[in-house]
Amino acid sequence: MPNRMTQMFEIEVPIFAFSHCPDVVVEVSKSGGLGVLGMGRKSPQAAREALEWIDAHIGGRPYGIDLMMPTTYQDSGEMKYDPERLFPKEHVDFLRSMLDDAGIPRLPEAEEADIQREMLATSTYTRRESMEMLDVAMEHPIKLIVNALGTPPPEMIERAHAKGIKVAAMAGAEKHAIRHKQAGCDFVIAVGTEAAGHTGNTTSMVLWPRIVDAVAPLPVLGAGGIGRGRQFAAALALGCEGVWCGSIWLKTVQSEVIPEIKEKLFKAGSDDAVLTRSVTGKPCRTLRCTFTDAWDGPGAPAPLPPPLQLLLWWGQGRTRVERVRATEFLTYPIGQIVGDMKEETSVRQVVEDMLNEFLESKEHLDRFLA
Ligand SMILES: Cc1cc2nc3c(=O)[nH]c(=O)nc-3n(C[C@H](O)[C@H](O)[C@H](O)COP(=O)(O)O)c2cc1C
Repeated sequence: MPNRMTQMFEIEVPIFAFSHCPDVVVEVSKSGGLGVLGMGRKSPQAAREALEWIDAHIGGRPYGIDLMMPTTYQDSGEMKYDPERLFPKEHVDFLRSMLDDAGIPRLPEAEEADIQREMLATSTYTRRESMEMLDVAMEHPIKLIVNALGTPPPEMIERAHAKGIKVAAMAGAEKHAIRHKQAGCDFVIAVGTEAAGHTGNTTSMVLWPRIVDAVAPLPVLGAGGIGRGRQFAAALALGCEGVWCGSIWLKTVQSEVIPEIKEKLFKAGSDDAVLTRSVTGKPCRTLRCTFTDAWDGPGAPAPLPPPLQLLLWWGQGRTRVERVRATEFLTYPIGQIVGDMKEETSVRQVVEDMLNEFLESKEHLDRFLA
């Protein structure tokens, strides 16, 4: 499928995959697309190991990395681990009694403190931390850097371009996309509200053509709600030059999710992918569960600002829940496409299915033009 995106990265098909899982990144790139590794939840050491593993397995195919660098932030590296100062008692009590009432054993206090201290030390949401991750990534043959939470800073773009690495950023609104273009991004990823993770309120159907027009002639990838060929075809029909998918890889054997969460995904409908602040403090589309219901319900305290809500949930809630596999509390970032995810398959099969259905869509359209 020759176009500007496939030519930019010397790939066969303009299918870009976001994943935290190195196996998915490798398999997507080997299937003709481009895998992009999410670094946001990794320490520099874990990132280095993941990139080394990718280099050893990807057979010279291109790949990229994704950083989470918000425009405004609290520098967690300068935060001392002091749970009483970081987390209001009301929030801790709310979460604790929710899990106590469900009979989920508490973690030993020292272990809980260690988990949160480690999270504070390794979360890489700030400019300083993201720059450290960039140093790590630059030691590897990456071809693309994507910034998730805002316009990449000039030094990131300059350093990347000096090494021939392309830079892109996600946008949920035209004004963000225009800012990315003005900053010198090589393309923009237009993310509709259907998407997993942090997202705005505008649907892909409305957002994609608006961003395509707003940043023309810069290429745009469509994201949010793409898991099959008809959606791939729709993105191209609306002016995008490729697609960026995240949720669909979670159903593959290569994905990082534990079997119990995968089972929940296969049973879920699109309505179960709720937009909630309860997990990260920012609107994030996530699989609905007892925890999100409780925090989004009446009487719950307002979620804490990032990164504190994630620290609270992950450090004091998620580990506790996953340790005993308390299924009603298990959750994961997921988009509305979850309603179409019914069985486990492989990354290569997802790509093949997408291409086959894309061709059917073309034939379907051709019939209208005969
Ligand atoms: C499990 C999961 C975690 C995600 N975490 C991030 C992240 O750390 N950084 C990021 O840029 N996007 C993240 N996303 C969003 C994806 O980059 C992408 O925008 C989104 O998945 C596209 O919509 P889709 O889920 O409908 O395919 C995540 C998506 C999933 C499924």
